[in-house]
Amino acid sequence: MSEEKTEFRDYNKLDVNHAVREHYRKMRQNQTYQYVQKMKEKYLTFQHPMDLWDAMAQLNRLIDVSDPDLDLPNIQHLIQSAEALRNDGRPDWMQLVGLIHDLGKVMFLWGCDEDGTSQNEQWGMVGDVFVMGCALPDSCVYPEFNTLNPDMRDSKYNNSLGIYERGCGLDNLTLAWGHDEYLFQVLSNHKSNTIPEAGMVMIRYHSFYPWHTGGSYSELLGHNDHQYLDWIRDFNQYDLYSKNPKTYDLEEVKEYYAPIAKKYLGSGPIYW
Ligand SMILES: [Fe+2]
Ligand SMILES: [Fe+2]
Repeated sequence: MSEEKTEFRDYNKLDVNHAVREHYRKMRQNQTYQYVQKMKEKYLTFQHPMDLWDAMAQLNRLIDVSDPDLDLPNIQHLIQSAEALRNDGRPDWMQLVGLIHDLGKVMFLWGCDEDGTSQNEQWGMVGDVFVMGCALPDSCVYPEFNTLNPDMRDSKYNNSLGIYERGCGLDNLTLAWGHDEYLFQVLSNHKSNTIPEAGMVMIRYHSFYPWHTGGSYSELLGHNDHQYLDWIRDFNQYDLYSKNPKTYDLEEVKEYYAPIAKKYLGSGPIYW
C-alpha cells in the first residue's frame, strides 16, 4: 500500500515539473512587447466592481500552474504570507500586502485561453516576469526558452538596452503581463487606496526574479531602484513558498484583517 502511494507521488511530481516547464515555454513564446500592450488595453478597463473579500474567495478556485505544489490553494498562500508578517510584528500595511499580493490572479474571471489568462492557460497571468523590449537574460528560469521569443529576432529589441535609455528606472520598463502589474494598476486606480509606496512596489515587482534575485538589467536601473530592491527582498522572504501544512479559514482570519483592509483600501468595491 505504501509503495503504491510513493509511486503515485513520484508520478505526480514528474507531471508537475512538466507542467511548470510547459508553462514557461509558452510564456517565453507568447509574451511579446506587442502582446503586453494589447493586454494592458484589454484588461486595464476597471469595469468590474468586486469586493476585496469576494475577490479573495475567488482565488480558492484557481490552481496556479507555475507553483510546483498543486495541493495548496492560492488563498492559503496569501493567508500564510500575511500570518508570517503578522507573527514577525511587521507593519499592518505590509501584512495587508502579504494578504493581497497575488490577488491580480482574479484576472482569470474574465480571462481566456488565447490571452494566457484562464484556468487552463496561465502564461499571461502567473510566473516569473522579465522585461519586454530588450534582450532576455540568462537569469530567466529555463533560459533555453529565450530563443523562442519572437521579439528576440527583432533588432529593435534583441540587445541589452533595446527600446530603453540607460538608467531609465524600473517604473519606465514594460514587464511581461501578469498578476503583479494588473493588481498594481487596479489599486493605483482605486481612489481610497493609501497603501504606502513600499507596499505598492512589493505588489508590482514581486515576480520580477531576473532582477530582484538574478541581478540582471543593471544598465536599466535608476536612482530609486536600490530602495525598491531593499523593499522587494524584505517582502520576498514572506512570499517564498513554505511547506507549512497549516491551513486557514478565510472567514476566521477576516476578523483580524478586515479593519486593516478598510484602513488602507476603504470599504467600497474595487474596480477590476
Ligand atoms: Fe505572485
Ligand atoms: Fe505569492
